[in-house]
Amino acid sequence: MRIPRALNPRLKKRIWRKFGIYEIVVPEETTPSRTVPDSIEFPDYISGKLLIIPKSPEVKDAEQLEGMRQSCKIASSILHKMQTFIKPCITTDKIDELVHRLSIEAGAYPSPLHYKGFPKSVCTSVNNVAVHGIPDLRALQDGDIVNVDITVYYKGYHGDCSKTFPVGNVDDRGLQLIGVTEECLQHAIKHCGPDVPFREIGARIYRRAKRNGLTVLPAFVGHGIGKYFHGPPEIYHSKNRYPGLMKPGMTFTIEPALSHGSENTVILEDGWTVITEDGSRAAQAEHTILITEHGAEILT
Ligand code: MF3
Ligand code: CO
Ligand code: CO
Repeated sequence: MRIPRALNPRLKKRIWRKFGIYEIVVPEETTPSRTVPDSIEFPDYISGKLLIIPKSPEVKDAEQLEGMRQSCKIASSILHKMQTFIKPCITTDKIDELVHRLSIEAGAYPSPLHYKGFPKSVCTSVNNVAVHGIPDLRALQDGDIVNVDITVYYKGYHGDCSKTFPVGNVDDRGLQLIGVTEECLQHAIKHCGPDVPFREIGARIYRRAKRNGLTVLPAFVGHGIGKYFHGPPEIYHSKNRYPGLMKPGMTFTIEPALSHGSENTVILEDGWTVITEDGSRAAQAEHTILITEHGAEILT
C-alpha cells in the first residue's frame, strides 16, 4: 500500500492543521517486549495448546459468564487507572509498563503480548494512529489524544476495553471527536438486546457519527470474545448486512473508531500500526458487553 508522502514515517513529524491542531505521529524506537512469570495462566496462542474457536456466536452458561465478568472487571479497572497516569511527558512505553505490571499483579496475562506477533502488552494509538499503535519512546505531548486498548486473560477468559484520553489541553475538535465516539458506543449498547440484529449496531453508529460530521472507519470490527480473543460474531460499526440476532448469554465487543476525515487507513511496515490515510485524528472506544434477557450489560 502507498503511504502518503506527508505521512511517510521516514519524514520528520509535523503539525497538521487541516483537521485541528496536533502533531502527526509516526512510530518511534521502543523497548524490548516485557516478560510474564510462569505463575500466570497463558492464553492458547502462548501455551501452544490451540483452542477451537466456535464457528457461530456462542451462548455462554453461568460458569463461563462468571469467568467473563472477572476478566472484564480487571481490564476495566486497569483502564480506569490510566486516567490519572496519562499526562504530557509520559511515553506510551510507560503506559505499557504500567498495564503490564497491573495485569500481572491482578493475576492476569496482558492479551496483546505476542498475540499474532504483537510485541507489547497494550495498544496505544496517538492522534492520526487509528488503532493497534505499538507503545514506544515518544513522550505524549500537550494536545495529543491517545487511545489505550486493554485486554487481559484471566482464569481462561479475555476481557477487552478501550478509551481515548486527552493529554493536557486538547483543541475543541479533538475533544468533540472523543466525546462523539464515546456517545456512539453508548448509543449502540443501549439498543442491544435479545433478537436485535447485529447489523443494527453499525447502522446506529453510522447515523450518529454522520450527524456529528464524523466518519466511521469501517475496517475495524468488534468481535465475540471468551476463551478466545477474537471470534464470531463480527460487529460492524458502519452500515452493513451482517446476518444474525443477539441472544441472551452472548458476549462481544463494540469498538467504533471515528475520524474527522477519510474512512481509509494504511497499515505501516511494522505490520500493526494503522494510520488514517489523510492524517486526520481518530478516536476509539470499546466495551465488552453481555446480552441479557432484557437488554445488554456492560462487563468492562
Ligand atoms: N484489543 C484489540 C481489539 O479490540 C486487539 C488488539 S490485537 C493486538 O480487538 F495484538 F494488537 F493486541
Ligand atoms: Co480492544
Ligand atoms: Co476488541
